Parts: sequence; structure tokens; C-alpha cells
Amino acid sequence: MELGIKNKVAVVLAASKGLGRAAAETLAAEGVRVVIGSRNKEDLEKTAQEISEKTGSQVIGIPVDVTNAAQAEDFIAKAAEHFGQIDILVNNAGGPPFGPVESFDESQWQAAFELNLLSTVRITRLVLPHLKKTGSGRIINIVSMSVKSVLDNSVLSTSIRMGVVGMAKMLADEVGPDQITVNNVCPGMILTDRIRSSGIKKELEAGMTEEEALQSRAKNIPLRRIGKPEELAALIAFLASEKASYITGTTIQVDGGVVRSIF
Ligand SMILES: NC(=O)c1ccc[n+]([C@@H]2O[C@H](COP(=O)([O-])OP(=O)(O)OC[C@H]3O[C@@H](n4cnc5c(N)ncnc54)[C@H](OP(=O)(O)O)[C@@H]3O)[C@@H](O)[C@H]2O)c1
Repeated sequence: MELGIKNKVAVVLAASKGLGRAAAETLAAEGVRVVIGSRNKEDLEKTAQEISEKTGSQVIGIPVDVTNAAQAEDFIAKAAEHFGQIDILVNNAGGPPFGPVESFDESQWQAAFELNLLSTVRITRLVLPHLKKTGSGRIINIVSMSVKSVLDNSVLSTSIRMGVVGMAKMLADEVGPDQITVNNVCPGMILTDRIRSSGIKKELEAGMTEEEALQSRAKNIPLRRIGKPEELAALIAFLASEKASYITGTTIQVDGGVVRSIF
């Protein structure tokens, strides 16, 4: 399928690795010019170069901590200046720590709010004037399956991302007349460094190998396997495309069927 996004410009946050990187790579493979942002400059530049070499598309890395308002402003200004336009925004950030309600103090709630909700609002507000000029802007927020179904030990992710979903739904209403679509994608368990380092911590502490831990988690997933980053990225590229021009205000999971709710 021809997605119709060749030569468009995408900004993908938190993209030196994991889901953000996969989104950037899949968009670049469709001929999109991509600006990626995350904190570690070396990792970022290495990733930009690797994606560019692999896909033949122009990819640049600009360091940014999405929790820092001044850095975010500078990042979007540089991104817009570099390619002269922004057509697609993929909002993403690192994840908050896992744990139950009683395990977090107010400073941890504040940090999660800044990392996963305020950063999304901030970057979106900065990019909207650019998207309004395109007549076909796209905003895609990476959230989590936890907004659809209870996920143990994930109160920060669940609570804060519900705010992103609410904001996106309101925004879809507000910017619809500008032909800007706003959608959320919900990863289930997708193999990235975050899953390796903290997602399977309990099993590793109980003495399982990484392989055993992943196999044990896969038992509860209808497709009986952990997802691959490119499987989420495929949905992101579709939502970013011309083909998805009438899809807005949705929240779609890519989770191997693990969300048990019917709607
Ligand atoms: N993987 C899954 O199964 C899964 C499931 C549900 C939800 N999610 C959510 O999806 C998001 C991405 O997860 P992932 O698995 O791809 O994580 P990951 O592999 O740990 O990658 C995180 C990326 O975010 C960047 N980053 C972290 N904090 C940042 C900040 N303050 N500003 C800018 N960039 C930042 C990191 O680079 P630097 O450290 O250099 O900044 C890195 O590029 C997270 O919010 C996660 O909770 C993931």
C-alpha cells in the first residue's frame, strides 16, 4: 500500500531506541524526513545515522529532554527550521517506574505527570502552528495498554496516560476543522530495553533467565509471544499516512490480544 507520505516531515520524540526509534525508522522507510529527539546526544546521533543509512531518508537528531520547557521549545524551533515544515508528530517519552499506588510519594507523581502528560501537551502546543499550515497534520501519542485494561503495578502509567487520552480526544475535536488527526497507540508488551530492564524485573529477581521470563509473560497473551517494536511502528506509520485521513480521536492497542475488554 502506498502510504502517500514521501517527503513529509515527522518529529519523533524519545526515539534513540525502543518504540520511538522503530516509529522513526518505519516512517523513514516510507520516505519521510525525520527529526528524532531524546536526551543522550551520542545515542541519538548514532541512531539518526543508522536509520538514515538503512532507509536512505534524511534523519537528524536534536537532543532534548521533554520534561524541560526551554529545551522543548528550542527543539521544535530547530526541527521546523531544518526541514522548513512539520507534518507529523509522534509524542513519546520514557516510562514512569512500575509499582502499586502506595509505593509512590508526591514527587514521583509529579515527575510522572511532567514526563508523560505535561511533555505531550507542551510538544503538541509547540507543533500545532506548523501542523495547521499543512492541511493534513497528524499527531500520534504513544501511551500504553494500561489505559484499556488493568496492568499490575502500573498506577503512574495508567493514571497519567488517561490524561493524555483525554487531552487527545479534546484536541481531535478542536483541530478537526484544520484536517489534523489525533490518535493514541497502546503498546502491550513489546520487547525494548524498558521491558528488559524493568518490565520483567520480578521474574529476573525470582531467578528466571530473560528468555524464561519473556516466555512466562507470553503465556497470557493470545498470540503467545511478546511484540516487536516494528509491529507498533506499522500502526503509527499508517495513522500518519494519507490513508488514515478519516481516523481521529481513537485509541488503538497493538498488544497480541492481551487487552480483554471487548470494546
Ligand atoms: N515497550 C513496551 O512494551 C511498552 C508498553 C507500554 C507502554 N510503553 C511506553 O512507551 C514508551 C517508550 O517505551 P520503550 O519501551 O521504547 O522505552 P525505552 O526502550 O526505554 O526507550 C526510551 C526512549 O526514551 C528516551 N527518553 C527517556 N526519557 C526521556 C526524556 N525525558 N526526554 C526525551 N527522551 C527521553 C530514551 O533516550 P534517553 O534516555 O537518551 O533520553 C529512549 O530513546 C514509554 O513511555 C513506555 O512506558 C512501552
